[in-house]
Amino acid sequence: MSVRPILKMGDPRLLRKSMPVREFGTPELKALLDDMFETMTAADGAGLAAPQIGVPLKVVIFGFENNRDLPETHAIPKTVLINPVIRPVGDMVEEAWEGCLSVPGMRGVVPRWSKVHYEGFDQNGQHISREATGFHARVVQHELDHLEGILYPMRMRDLSLFGFIEAMDTVEPEE
Ligand code: NI
Repeated sequence: MSVRPILKMGDPRLLRKSMPVREFGTPELKALLDDMFETMTAADGAGLAAPQIGVPLKVVIFGFENNRDLPETHAIPKTVLINPVIRPVGDMVEEAWEGCLSVPGMRGVVPRWSKVHYEGFDQNGQHISREATGFHARVVQHELDHLEGILYPMRMRDLSLFGFIEAMDTVEPEE
């Protein structure tokens, strides 16, 4: 296990489309996930996608049991999601602040579907199927975007709501 360097916006590897995982339960997949969890924890993040450590595979992790920076309502089950598929439920969109470990020190307001259904597989190939709303739905949409080479600033509608955290007064941290 090791903490891996997180690629930053501007690195072309963050703009690639990721490939599906073909085999589950392998030592290589386990090693990748161990590194991803260690890297996410070290960076105090709420989610991480494999491309952020330079691995172009459809693998994301997200969630946390206890994160003192986020309110209780933001709790998300610790999840490994592989080869995910997502669709909106309804047509409601909401805007909220997001950050990204690949865009360090910055925040921006991003529109996301309010409610989504997502599915995929865990590290052993067990099927996962869930509906999510609010912060949970937002984190999943953010992480899955990484698999398509999309960073949150590319989703923004109003760049006046984008900037350095240290320069902002009252921004609620997300993701
Ligand atoms: Ni991100």
